Amino acid sequence: MSPFRLTRTLPEDATGAALRADVRAGLTGSPRTLPPKWFYDARGSELFEEITALPEYYPTRAEREILLARAGDIAAVSGARTLVELGSGSSEKTRHLIAALGGLHTYVPVDVSESALAGAGRALAAERPGLEVHALVADFTAELALPDTPGPRLVAFLGGTIGNLLPTERAAFLASVRALLAPGDALLLGTDLVKDEKTLVRAYDDAAGVTAAFNKNVLAVLDRELGADFDPDAFDHVALWDAEHEWIEMRLRSRTAQSVKIPALELVVDFAEGEELRTEVSAKFRQEGVRAELAAAGLDLARWWTDEEGRFALSLSVAR
Ligand code: SAH
Ligand code: AVI
Repeated sequence: MSPFRLTRTLPEDATGAALRADVRAGLTGSPRTLPPKWFYDARGSELFEEITALPEYYPTRAEREILLARAGDIAAVSGARTLVELGSGSSEKTRHLIAALGGLHTYVPVDVSESALAGAGRALAAERPGLEVHALVADFTAELALPDTPGPRLVAFLGGTIGNLLPTERAAFLASVRALLAPGDALLLGTDLVKDEKTLVRAYDDAAGVTAAFNKNVLAVLDRELGADFDPDAFDHVALWDAEHEWIEMRLRSRTAQSVKIPALELVVDFAEGEELRTEVSAKFRQEGVRAELAAAGLDLARWWTDEEGRFALSLSVAR
């Protein structure tokens, strides 16, 4: 069994304070919004794992296909001794990469979901004797204090999670990732690609209703953490394609006119019948856009791989 450490980098009540600030800003603004990171309590992380196995949700399978085919190339180009993974979740696909990285010394999974991190980190440390696993409970949009481990460093950001950031947030995020790297270190980035609307919408509105449950779970988080009285059944799950921005939006649409109390914020939020609350954007990408966003952050696109059907891309870029 290898060493496994879990560090909480957030100060006491940082999560509670951040949730209160996000909910106040998001629910009092127009249009109403909530940041997607609040989906991922233990139940939300479980629901996300269920999503990854749905017939309609192709990104996980497509990215796994690329990783299986290219793990050797990624190891050769990066020569990584430390692998940092942002938004690592279950680390399920990452196993293929870790297996290929012969000289890997430390794996640093980073996630806001402590339940997902603890399960995945312990399992990996048990499976891979000799690999140090140092898990960080942290927000990857904030400044990260990484452990002092040997380079070269490879940062992985898989699953297309970068698409859950808005364009201005993405630029700041990529600049902060670049700041974690020395020249020659690399970023492995998963990006879902623009494709036909029907395939995209089906991936976010599955027949079994798992994505609807995932979407509504954010209301359960607000009820538990802030004493709110959202009734998840009083909202409908909505997934739509925004062709102008080239992103999927998930929303919750109020079925009736209703008032929701949020005691921790001393706030009452009135929803009109049919009024919508945006809970997530999931941007879809094209190669030239990814190249330009990386370049603006000081990262040069070195490799671009897609799955056989061209649905999803994995890119490897190198810090200038
Ligand atoms: N990388 C995995 C999981 C993707 S789900 C995969 O490809 O399957 C997105 C993950 O990012 C979740 O585990 C969620 O808890 C985490 N996450 C979302 N926003 C985050 C943030 N701001 N900081 C850290 N982790 C975050
Ligand atoms: C984590 N992220 C990349 C997922 C996505 O596809 O945007 C989250 C998700 N939302 C609905 N289904 C999955």
